[in-house]
Amino acid sequence: MKEVIRCAVLGLGRLGYWHAENLAYQVKGAELVTVIDPLAGRAEEVAKELGVSNWSQDPDVAFHDDTIDAVVIVTPTSTHADLITRAAKNGKHVFVEKPLTQELSDADKVINTLQQENVFCQVGFMRRFDPAYAEAKKSIAAGDIGKPLYFKAASRDGNVPHEEFIKHSGGIFLDVAIHDYDIARFLMGQDVSSVQSTGSILLESNQFMEKYNDVDQGLTYLTFDGGATGDVETMRIAPYAYDIRGEVVGTEGAIQIGSMRSTDVKLLTNKGSTHDLIQDFPSRFQNAYLLEMIHFISSVQQGKTPNCTAADGKAALEIASAATESFLSGKKVELKKVIEKTVI
Ligand SMILES: NC(=O)c1ccc[n+]([C@@H]2O[C@H](COP(=O)([O-])OP(=O)(O)OC[C@H]3O[C@@H](n4cnc5c(N)ncnc54)[C@H](O)[C@@H]3O)[C@@H](O)[C@H]2O)c1
Repeated sequence: MKEVIRCAVLGLGRLGYWHAENLAYQVKGAELVTVIDPLAGRAEEVAKELGVSNWSQDPDVAFHDDTIDAVVIVTPTSTHADLITRAAKNGKHVFVEKPLTQELSDADKVINTLQQENVFCQVGFMRRFDPAYAEAKKSIAAGDIGKPLYFKAASRDGNVPHEEFIKHSGGIFLDVAIHDYDIARFLMGQDVSSVQSTGSILLESNQFMEKYNDVDQGLTYLTFDGGATGDVETMRIAPYAYDIRGEVVGTEGAIQIGSMRSTDVKLLTNKGSTHDLIQDFPSRFQNAYLLEMIHFISSVQQGKTPNCTAADGKAALEIASAATESFLSGKKVELKKVIEKTVI
């Protein structure tokens, strides 16, 4: 077993900073040695804040450093395929944020390279590590609700991203709903065999999304290969909270996941009772981001395949691509094949 895993973080934006901070201070067995971002001054700023000794604007600095064991890729989705490939070819284990790649056609190439170079890859589907989703998985696996029949998810975000982000995001099904496609497979223990999706632009201020074939509200109906069905509601315009919920109905009961509260405080007055609501993804999934990184580092230390693999990344990407195709064509789309469970 390798005691210390020397890491680099690539991409120090909204989420990259968070992963870097966790690796610098909270993940046992990890040593954050380099931070990288092409944005002038960003890597130096983060390095100084987190006490990291090396920084650069160039990812090659991490790839060509033989003392680095693993890279954490938190860059725009369109860069993932290239960066994973370069990392793997330089013998680095990879943690990559979702989605695995922007284009489905790149997923197999990336998986082949990871296999050829014999490096591990974990995809950042952090909901699998969220204590509530993880507990639900355990309960379903223990048979508490019988055979899972129906999956339901709502992911509602109120922070509408700016136009430049939407332009490159790949659309609501790829950028947002993909978390629910992954967690659907995880909780149901079945792969998705067909999807039918639809969507709308509900806010006047989001009309610009039409240029990019995107919407601020989407709905995906899923059919699973074991006969179950489900629906995924996805929204960028929730005016009240960052509201993430899931449910599985089985033959013997149902399991509901997610509360919207950030603190367990309730205010009671003669006007009624109130409590706070979670407003953004870092607050809702703070624990999950840390736990997924602990899992990645411990998998690399032990030389074990992590739980959320590149094959899982491809499976979710296949569902997202089919959902996008269905939204654009108005037709149900069959997934070409059941995803192989490879050893990546
Ligand atoms: N799991 C989640 O809940 C979650 C949440 C948000 C974002 N994401 C994913 O994380 C990734 C990054 O998203 P974000 O919101 O942090 O983006 P962001 O735009 O805030 O940050 C991206 C950073 O990457 C840098 N960058 C660009 N090209 C680079 C390169 N070649 N090498 C190194 N750095 C580079 C940019 O300068 C920027 O600082 C995306 O793939 C996104 O889908 C996941």
